[in-house]
Amino acid sequence: MSRIVYVNGDYVPEEEAKVSIFDRGFLMADGVYEVTSVLGGKLIDFDGHAKRLERSLSELDMAMPMSADDLLAIHRELVAKNGIDEGMIYLQVTRGAPGDRDFAFPPEDTPLTVVLFTQNKPGLADSPVAKQGIKVISIEDIRWGRRDIKTVQLLYPSMGKMMAKKAGVDDAWMVEDGAVTEGTSNNAYIVKNGTIITRQLSTDILHGITRAAVLRFAAEAQMKVEERPFTIEEAQDADEAFITSASTFVMPVVEVDGATVGTGRPGPVAARLREIYLEESRNAAI
Ligand code: PDD
Repeated sequence: MSRIVYVNGDYVPEEEAKVSIFDRGFLMADGVYEVTSVLGGKLIDFDGHAKRLERSLSELDMAMPMSADDLLAIHRELVAKNGIDEGMIYLQVTRGAPGDRDFAFPPEDTPLTVVLFTQNKPGLADSPVAKQGIKVISIEDIRWGRRDIKTVQLLYPSMGKMMAKKAGVDDAWMVEDGAVTEGTSNNAYIVKNGTIITRQLSTDILHGITRAAVLRFAAEAQMKVEERPFTIEEAQDADEAFITSASTFVMPVVEVDGATVGTGRPGPVAARLREIYLEESRNAAI
C-alpha cells in the first residue's frame, strides 16, 4: 500500500511526490535529516530531534524551515494518515533547488526542500534481534570531520554496512586513531566492571538523542558512566557492548571482529537500559 508523504507543504501519495533534479540534496548532499521513532502511535524524543535539526541547519547556515511546533504537527499528521503504531519518521531538509548546479550556495531566499515520510515497523520495540544481540566488525573511519552535523552524506556509512554484510555480520564500528568513534548509524558503548564507557561528545561523532536519554537514565539508576574513547581490544575484552539509536533503541552487541563479548549473550546492563529506555520513552512520548 502506498504511503502518504510530505513534500514542501503537500501531503501526497509517495508516487506523486517530486523533488527537482537540481535539488542541492541530490547534487551535493547539501542537506540534513532526522529519524524519530514512533511507539504506540506517539513520537519518541521529538524535542531532542527538533533541537538537533535546528543545530545541524545552523552549522550549515540554514534556518529552520518552520517552527518545531509546525514540524511536530506534520509528524503527527503523517503518523495518523499512515496509521503508524511502531516505526520511524524520516525528515530531510536540503538547501533547495536553485535551478542549476553551482558549488556556491544559492541566494538565501531559495526555499529549502522539506520532505518527510513514514517507515512502518511493527514489532520494532519487541525486536527478536535485541534478545540475540548483533555482531559487528571494525572499519576505518574515513568520514569527514563534522560528524556532529546530521548530514545526508551517508555513502561511507552505507559502504560500511555492506562491508559488515559481506563479512556475515550486522554492522560496523568505525575506528579512528586507534579508538572507536561510532557505528555506521548508531553510538557505541562497552561495559567493563559495571562501568558504561562511551566516547565523549565532539565533532567526531553524532550527538545521539538516544545516547543523551540513555546516559541520563543510567545516571538516574546509579550506574557508572565514563565518557572517553575506547579501543576494539577493550571492546573484545569487555563484559558487554551495545549501540543506541532512534531505530534500534538500546541494542546489545555480542561479537566484535570475530571475538565473543562477555558471554556471547546480551548482558544485564544493556538489557536493563533497553527496558528503562523503552518504558521511560513511552511514558514521555508525544
Ligand atoms: N542514525 N551516530 C550516527 C552516525 C547515526 O547516524 C545515528 C542515527 C546515531 C544515533 O543517533 P540517535 O540516537 O539520535 O538516533 C549515531 C539514524 C537512526 C539513521 O541514520 O537512520
